[in-house]
Amino acid sequence: MNNELANQIRSKVDIVDIIGERIPLVTKGKNFFCVCPFHDDTNPSMSVSREKQIYTCFSCHATGNVFTFLMNYEHMDFKEVLKYLGNRVGIDTGNIKVTKKTNKNDKLYEAYNFSVKYFQNNLQSSIGHKAKEYLFKRKIDDTLIKEFEIGLSQDKRDDLTKLLQSKQYDLVTLNRIGLSSDDHDIYNDRIMFPLYDINGRTVGFSGRIYKDNNQNKYLNTKETDIFKKGQCLYHYHIAKEECRKKNSVIVMEGFMDVIRASSIGIKNTVALMGTALTKEQIILIKRLSNNIILCLDGDDPGQHATLSIGNTLHEQGIEVKVIKLPNPDDPDTYILNNGKERFEGLISSAINFSDYKIERLKENVDFRSDEEKANYINEVLKETSKLDDEIRREVVLKRLAKEFDIGYNTLEMRINSFIKDKPKKEAIVIPKKISTKKNKYTKAYEQIIYFMLNNDWVITQVEKERLIFPTEEMRAICSEISYYYKLHGNINVADFYTYIQDKENILILLNNILGESYSEKTTKDELFLYFKVVREYCEKQEIKRLTNKMKKEVDPIEQAKIVEKIRKLRLGDSE
Ligand code: CTP
Ligand code: MN
Repeated sequence: MNNELANQIRSKVDIVDIIGERIPLVTKGKNFFCVCPFHDDTNPSMSVSREKQIYTCFSCHATGNVFTFLMNYEHMDFKEVLKYLGNRVGIDTGNIKVTKKTNKNDKLYEAYNFSVKYFQNNLQSSIGHKAKEYLFKRKIDDTLIKEFEIGLSQDKRDDLTKLLQSKQYDLVTLNRIGLSSDDHDIYNDRIMFPLYDINGRTVGFSGRIYKDNNQNKYLNTKETDIFKKGQCLYHYHIAKEECRKKNSVIVMEGFMDVIRASSIGIKNTVALMGTALTKEQIILIKRLSNNIILCLDGDDPGQHATLSIGNTLHEQGIEVKVIKLPNPDDPDTYILNNGKERFEGLISSAINFSDYKIERLKENVDFRSDEEKANYINEVLKETSKLDDEIRREVVLKRLAKEFDIGYNTLEMRINSFIKDKPKKEAIVIPKKISTKKNKYTKAYEQIIYFMLNNDWVITQVEKERLIFPTEEMRAICSEISYYYKLHGNINVADFYTYIQDKENILILLNNILGESYSEKTTKDELFLYFKVVREYCEKQEIKRLTNKMKKEVDPIEQAKIVEKIRKLRLGDSE
C-alpha cells in the first residue's frame, strides 16, 4: 500500500470533522472530547486532538488516526477508507482496487435485500390493492411507501420461502434467519416495514395487520445474527446526518411516528420500537446528539415510559427534554391532526425533564387535603433538590411560596436538608487519564519513545547513544520509528499509525503509550536523565543475569571472572 498517498489524503482531512460528523464533540482547552464509541460508556472519555490528528480513549485505550477511526467505526477496510476520504478531499484514488471481503452474514443480508424487493413488488401489484388502500387512508402516500421501502407479504403460505429456496437457501437457513417457519413463510398478509441496522442495511421486518382481524398488530423478526432488537433504533442511519444539522435528536416510540415526522421534513428522529430502553440504545442515542428530546405517546403507557426513560438518562447525568402530547395522541396522529407548524411549536417549547416531573407530581393530588398538599410540596422540593442549577431551584421555590402561600425561608430550609442528604452526583466529567501501575523503568522507556514520536532530534540521539530497549516490542517500535524517519525525513504520530497499522504488537504498545499522559517536548539534559534511568535498568538486568550464571557455574576460575564482571558493573553504576 502506498503510504505517500495515504499521508497526503490524511493531511487534507481533519479528524475532528470526521469524528464530529458521527459523534457529538465538546471542546475543552485545545482538545475535543466525546463519548467513546468503542466501549460501553456515557462519559466523554475519548479525546480528539486537532493538532496531532489522533484520538485516544482514556478508558478503553482505543487510539489511532482518522483511518483507524473509520475502519473501526464504519467497519471499512483500509482501502475503502482511503477511497472514501480521497473522494472527499478530491484526491484521485482510482488505482486502489477495493476487494470485496466476504462476510459470513453476507447471505443473510442478501436474503433480506431480496425480500424487501419481493414485498415491495407485491404491494405495487394487483394483490396490493387493499393494503394500499389502507396505507392511503392512513396518509402514507407513494412517496413515503418508496422512501421507507414499505411492502406486503402474500396471503399464501410459502411464496417467499419457495423463491428463496430456488436461490439456494435451504430451509434450515431460512428458519434460522427468521424468514420461514418450517417450510412456510413467517409473514402472511401483512404490510411489511423493513427494519434497518445503524448502517442502513435491512436486517429484519415489522409486519402490520391491515384488515380487521384479531392477530397481533405487529409481528417482528426474531433475534438473529444480524438483528438484535435491543441494539436497533429505527431510522438511526438517516438520523445520523440530520441530528448533526439540527443539533438534537427526537426519540419516538413507533416507526409510524418517525415516518410521519419525516413526511413533514423532521428527520432527526429515531424510534425505540417498544418502550424499554437498553444500554446499547442509550449509547446510540448519545452518539446522535447531546440534546435529546423525548416525544413518546401521550397515552398513559407513553407518559409512564417518559418518566422511566427520562429517569434512566438523568441517572447517567443526561438531562433530556420532553414534548408532552395530548392524551391519547402519538406523534403520528398529532401531526396528522394538527399539522407541521404546531408540531414544530411543540418541539421548540419542549420542557426540561425535571420540570416535566414536577408537573406530573401535581396530577391526582387533592389540594383540599392539607396532608396531600404538604406531601406534594415535599415531593416537588425533593425533585428540585436534584437540580444542579441554583437559579432554577430558586425559581421553583418562589413559585411554590407564592402558589401555596408558604414562607420562602421554610421552603429553602427544607430543600437544603434534601440537598445535604443527596449523594453527590457527578455531573458529566471528563475523566482524567488513568495511569496503570507501571514501574519507573517502563515509564522512562515509554516516555523516550513518545519523545521520539514528537521530536526528530530525539530519534537521532537514541541512535547515537545506542540505547537498548528491554522488550522486543519496544525494540521493534524504536527501529520502525528510525526507519520511518529515514524514509520521510520527519515523523508524526498520525502518519506513523498508518505505517504500522498491520504490525499488531507495535500497535498495542503505541496505543498503550498514547493512553498515558507523557510529555511531548524535552531538553537534551532531561532526555539524558531518562537515558540514565534506562541504563540503570539494563545494568540491573545484566547483574541479575550474571548472578544466575555464576550460581550455575562450577569452575571456580570462571566464577571469579563473573564476580569481577558484576563488580565492574556495580562500580559503573555508582559512578
Ligand atoms: N410494537 C410491536 N408489537 C406490537 C405493538 C407495538 O413491536 N404488538 C412496537 C412497534 O415497533 C411500534 C412500537 O412498538 O412501532 C410502538 O407501538 P404503537 O404505538 O402501538 O405503534 P404505532 O406506531 O402507533 O403504530 P400504529 O399507528 O400502526 O398503531
Ligand atoms: Mn403509537
